[in-house]
Amino acid sequence: MDPTTNLSEPMETQETLERLRAEAPGRIEHVESVEALDELAVELTGKRSPIASGRRSLGSAPPEERRDLGRAINDVAVELDALIDARRSVLERAERADALAADRVDVTLPGRTPARGTIHVIQQVMDEIVDIFVAMGYTVATGPEIETEFYNFTALNFGAAHPSRFDSDTLYVDYGDVPEEILLRTHTSPMQARYMEQHDPPVYLVVPGRVFRRDQVDPTHSPVFHQIEGLAVDGDITFGDLKGALEHFAHEFLGPETLVKFIPHFFPFTEPSAEMHVFTNGGWMELLGCGMVNPAVFEAVGYNPDEVTGFAFGMGADRLAMVRHGVTDLRHLFDSDQRILEQYR
Ligand code: DAH
Repeated sequence: MDPTTNLSEPMETQETLERLRAEAPGRIEHVESVEALDELAVELTGKRSPIASGRRSLGSAPPEERRDLGRAINDVAVELDALIDARRSVLERAERADALAADRVDVTLPGRTPARGTIHVIQQVMDEIVDIFVAMGYTVATGPEIETEFYNFTALNFGAAHPSRFDSDTLYVDYGDVPEEILLRTHTSPMQARYMEQHDPPVYLVVPGRVFRRDQVDPTHSPVFHQIEGLAVDGDITFGDLKGALEHFAHEFLGPETLVKFIPHFFPFTEPSAEMHVFTNGGWMELLGCGMVNPAVFEAVGYNPDEVTGFAFGMGADRLAMVRHGVTDLRHLFDSDQRILEQYR
């Protein structure tokens, strides 16, 4: 249909209406989208359609024909509107159904399992060790990884020229012009001094944490590793208390039949000092360092060595994780290889 068809002449108007009647229904029926239907509706019944121009021409029609012609135009307009509306609802329903089908979710498909995180094996072992001491009444505290030379060495009775202070062993942090050397703590022992400064005795304390040394990376060394420090201070703590507590720990951690032995050793902050070895996997293994708190440490933190005694210990959590799980290369625990770490879920 030519939308510009001129309906100004009554005869032509009648013919045009007939043509519309004959052709429009088929065209409406064949439109395949709501969008195309909207376009066709404008063409057939819009402002520039034959229907509209027919209405405009009514004024110039002979008065005796005006009425019939007007009615005829209206009838066709109503018919076309009805057909267009009917087609529109069919198309809209189909388009909605298509959209729903395209969007459909198959609820019978197996779900995608989100990756589940896991507590790192070293953290698990540290938690387990801490729990054993908490069950004996110990408190847990953590301290700064960036430490002053005072707490890391001096308060713990390390001599001014002790080789551990050399920067071949210890990682110093350059903070510019500061009154004291700052370093990455080389052990968790500084928390002994920090805690005693802040708390009156009695003290029953464990300190899990990360420590740093200028070390190479190999199967048994890493510049970053983990320790658990322990400290017990009270009115009359003896070396027998130390042995009892640490043997109990070994039995809890490695099994009730585990043999332990104490071998004399030296640490500046304990006197006497010892290493505790355990018999495991067919051989003796050093498990931790320990000793009776050196009176010099009590003095450094403001405790009276005539009124209190105590013991301290420190152990490497990474090594205990290796023993616990039969890991032979420390690097496996630090590589963040999920294929390995997931095995300790
Ligand atoms: N701080 C020592 C180290 O890193 C371990 C240690 C030994 C801690 C004896 C102690 C102790 O509390 O009594 O090698």
